[in-house]
Amino acid sequence: MSEPKKKAKHQSSSPRHPQKKGDEVLGAGVLHEPDGPTYGQPTPCECDAHQDALGEPFCALIEINLDGGGYLARHPKLKNLTGTGSEVSDAIANLRQSVAIYFAQISSASPAPSRRHFDTATSSAQYVPSAEKVPTVKIQPANPDLLSIKEASEWASVHIGKTVTTSNISYLIQYGRVKKIGENGPTQVSRKDLENYYKSHNRKREVSWKDQLGSDLNWALSFEQYKEAETTKHVHRLHPYKGKFIPQLVEYFLDAHTDNFKTETYFQRGDIILDPFSGSGTTMVQSNELGMHAIGVDISAFNALVGNCKVAHYNLPDVKAELGRISLALKSFLENSHVVEFEEKLLQELYTFNNKFFPVPEYKYRLAQGEINEKQYGAQKEKEFLPIYNKLIAEYGIKLRQERNKTFLDKWFSQHIRDELEFVFNELTRIKDQTTKEIIAVILSRTMRSCRATTHADLATLLEPVTTTYYCSKHGKMCKPLFSILKWWESYADDTFKRLIQFGKLRTDTFQKCLIGDSRAIDIFAELKKRNSAFGELAETQKIAGIFSSPPYVGLIDYHEQHAYAYDLFGFKRNDELEIGPLFKGNTREAKEGYIKGISDVLNNCKRFLVPNYNIFLVANDKFNMYPRIAENVGMSIVDQFKRPVLNRTEKDKGAYCETIFHLKQK
Ligand SMILES: C[S@@+](CC[C@H](N)C(=O)[O-])C[C@H]1O[C@@H](n2cnc3c(N)ncnc32)[C@H](O)[C@@H]1O
Repeated sequence: MSEPKKKAKHQSSSPRHPQKKGDEVLGAGVLHEPDGPTYGQPTPCECDAHQDALGEPFCALIEINLDGGGYLARHPKLKNLTGTGSEVSDAIANLRQSVAIYFAQISSASPAPSRRHFDTATSSAQYVPSAEKVPTVKIQPANPDLLSIKEASEWASVHIGKTVTTSNISYLIQYGRVKKIGENGPTQVSRKDLENYYKSHNRKREVSWKDQLGSDLNWALSFEQYKEAETTKHVHRLHPYKGKFIPQLVEYFLDAHTDNFKTETYFQRGDIILDPFSGSGTTMVQSNELGMHAIGVDISAFNALVGNCKVAHYNLPDVKAELGRISLALKSFLENSHVVEFEEKLLQELYTFNNKFFPVPEYKYRLAQGEINEKQYGAQKEKEFLPIYNKLIAEYGIKLRQERNKTFLDKWFSQHIRDELEFVFNELTRIKDQTTKEIIAVILSRTMRSCRATTHADLATLLEPVTTTYYCSKHGKMCKPLFSILKWWESYADDTFKRLIQFGKLRTDTFQKCLIGDSRAIDIFAELKKRNSAFGELAETQKIAGIFSSPPYVGLIDYHEQHAYAYDLFGFKRNDELEIGPLFKGNTREAKEGYIKGISDVLNNCKRFLVPNYNIFLVANDKFNMYPRIAENVGMSIVDQFKRPVLNRTEKDKGAYCETIFHLKQK
């Protein structure tokens, strides 16, 4: 083993964090709300990385962050492009088309131009023509079955009766759903191929799901017309959260529209909405957009933090200044680090390897056609790449694991990542403004979640720490673990800031607050008054108009555990035992009885704070048929049920799945 190239500046593991929680460490509290319970003192992709080998002018390295809302694309000659998925893919599609047209134009008159003719430093393709005159050539498709990306998007929009963007088409090509035609000229696809794709995909799904789940499935509630960027709009994507509902669903029931299914309006502007299982705060955000006040309650301090950060008012210049300060400090912390150089080297090796063995999009197309045994091929290539990886690890002296293995932070982060996290955390403690500190804590948490030592496919459900390069089924190529947080930190900082601005433009002047507590027992008005007296007074006088909520379901998710990393780093008090229906209690008979009692207790408790003619909407996949009993227990009737197909689940199981929105009223 050769000597490490350089000694890391930051290799010592920090002994800083006492393993204490809650009040014990209040004095040194880093994140505590000024007028509420303490968050305590700390203890200690999703990225897609696509390499695109669409020929010389398109040899872009494209990285798309699916998890963090922001999309990020890179080209050797491009600056980083960040923005929503469609903004970035549109920019890339434009770039490709312009470059392709330029190539087609000049290739008819002169040899291929050198790359210095291109100035691709902006998101739209610009070329600097060479001194010789560039002739104009009209490109005529020779074969009417072949469509350019733009033509394909227009054709598909008419064909399926809803907007299909050029980026949708690029996605289909990228993911091997339809074949890319044309290696040297502009990218084209076959109309027949597209037709087959849509035939097999869309309508078939509706028919087959109705067969499986019942013809009363309300397809309008699938919200299939919304792009991902819309279902994760503005602050909804500040932090990943397993088990959230989409904002369009909340809007549908809260807003004033009516249709064939929703024949009356339930809520008005100025009403107060309660979500006793607030989670990541979707109900609060949508209430705000619709001019309604909202109270959330959640047993998890971290979830309440995320929800409250979504609806908080910020001193944006302060947030920006603090983000800039921390980023600068982190960069100088990394200045002499060999990790950055190591990662660059590793990326180069992976790039070459992937181009050779997993060419895009041919590899995915062949996978989709069943021509390759993915498991075997992936395992074989993993083995082939390992010696290259091990050599670099040795050469740069990379420390893949930490010495201690006690806490989540010890186990799930490489030593280098851990050191950087500790560094940023310490910088965070220096922030004076509490709301600035909290939103930056959320950015740090989002960053650390993306930097856990796991594969892209297992980010939602961790298996075992992964510290080597691996074949990634999500991206169809070899991927690597992360060695520095810098890229994600910067990307999420930027993305969060943009999202706060976007929401700031839409928000109404209304109150929202999420309380940390057990919804079975919490005195909502009393707690609210402690946190925001004006809102508390208003709520007590006006009372709550109704509930829109998705309760946990029995034996499905451990809500504290899914953010174990944040509890470790920030030292929030955990209340796992008070979660209703957690995964760790399973779905035994006893667990189901406990669940029925738990949800009934919540409704009984919340009833005290509602107006007499309240409306309650609960979203659940009630496969054990428990909600009729729950309604009975609390003296309510289920007056309506809306059965909604859930199309874009984060779970690996993409089979037919629906949930029911139960409408309950006082008996
Ligand atoms: C399905 S999630 C809600 C997700 C939310 N609709 C969203 O869009 O983010 C259920 C939430 O209930 C919370 N919870 C579980 N038991 C609770 C209890 N006893 N009191 C209050 N909240 C509880 C969990 O922490 C979790 O955040």
